[in-house]
Amino acid sequence: MKIISLSGIAKSYLPDGTGEPVHALQGIDLEIEQGTIFTLIGPNGAGKTTLISIMTTLLFPDKGTGEVCGFDLRSQSGKIREVVNVTSGNANFTDIFSVAENLNYYGMLYGMAGPKRRKKIDRLIEMFQLQTHRNTPFNRLSTGTKQRLALAKSLMNEPRVLFLDEPTVGLDPQISESIRSSLKEMNREDGLTIVLTTHNMDEAEELSDHISFLQAGRIIAHGNAKNLKSKVRWGDTIRIRYDGPSLAPCGITSLTGILEVEVTENLVTITVDDHRKRLDTLMRTLVLQGNIILQDIEIIKPDLEDVFLELSKAPHPN
Ligand SMILES: Nc1ncnc2c1ncn2[C@@H]1O[C@H](COP(=O)(O)OP(=O)(O)O)[C@@H](O)[C@H]1O
Ligand SMILES: [Mg+2]
Repeated sequence: MKIISLSGIAKSYLPDGTGEPVHALQGIDLEIEQGTIFTLIGPNGAGKTTLISIMTTLLFPDKGTGEVCGFDLRSQSGKIREVVNVTSGNANFTDIFSVAENLNYYGMLYGMAGPKRRKKIDRLIEMFQLQTHRNTPFNRLSTGTKQRLALAKSLMNEPRVLFLDEPTVGLDPQISESIRSSLKEMNREDGLTIVLTTHNMDEAEELSDHISFLQAGRIIAHGNAKNLKSKVRWGDTIRIRYDGPSLAPCGITSLTGILEVEVTENLVTITVDDHRKRLDTLMRTLVLQGNIILQDIEIIKPDLEDVFLELSKAPHPN
C-alpha cells in the first residue's frame, strides 16, 4: 500500500529584493510504500529539505498534488500533522529543560493526556538509552545524546511516518551507526515508515529499501541500491600494486561480482560490486595465477559526486 504519493510537485522561492526565483523543486512524482525506509539522496541545494517540508505540510507546494497517509497535502494538513513527525540533524530544544521536560513539553503540544504522556516518556527514555540523562538540561548534552533525544521526541505522537532530515549529519561514525540501527529496528519491529534525507551514500545503501536521487529539484534516478549500482556502475574499486610479470586479466574478469578490470604494469585496478564479498576470492585468484609479489592494496569507494556525475551524463526521464 502506498502511504505517500506525490504528483508534479513544484516549489520556487522568491528571494528578497529583485533576485531571480529559485526553482527548488521542478515536478516531483513519488510513491512510498508503507512500512519501508525511503531515502532521498542528493547534494546540498538539491531540494531535499524543501521536499520533506512539503510532505510534512510545513511548506505549501506551488504546483502538484499529493497524499500522505490518505490525507490531501493541500486541504488536510492538520490531519497529516497528527500522523507524522519530523526531525532534522540540527535538532533544537529548550536549553534549560531536561530530557524528560523536553519530551513532556512535546507531549503536551501533541495534546497527549498526562498518564499516557508519562508512560510514553518512560518508554522512549529507555528505548534510546537516555536514563542517565533524564534530568540533564539540553544544553549540557553531547551531540549524540541530543540526536537520540530528537529521535525520542519524534516518536512521542506515535507517527505513522517518520521524516528525518539528515539525521546523522555532523555525528561521529559510531553514533551515526547506532542511530541507523535504531531506525532499522523501529522499521522492522513496529513497521514504521521512515523517509530520510542524506548525502551519505553508504548510509543510503545500508538503510534503504528505496533510494531516489534528487538533483537540482528533479529526481534523476530511483530504485533500490542494487539496481542503482548496476545503472551507474556504483561499485568499489580495488587497486593492487604488485611486483613481477604482468598479469593477464582474463582469470579475474570471469569471477562473480567483477564489473571492470584494468591492468597496467605493476598495477591492477578492479571494480567490483562489493569489495567485502569479493576481496578474498580475488586475492586468492591473483596469487595463484601469477608469479607475483603483492605490494599494496587500496580500496576506493565511489563518492556521491562520482555517481552524480555519471547520472547527470545519462539522459534522464524528467
Ligand atoms: N527560504 C528560502 N529562500 C530562498 N531560497 C531557498 C530557501 N530555502 C531553500 N532555498 C533554496 O532552494 C534550493 C533547495 O534547497 P533545500 O531544499 O534546502 O536543499 P537541500 O536540503 O537538498 O540542501 C537551494 O537552492 C536553496 O538555496
Ligand atoms: Mg537540507
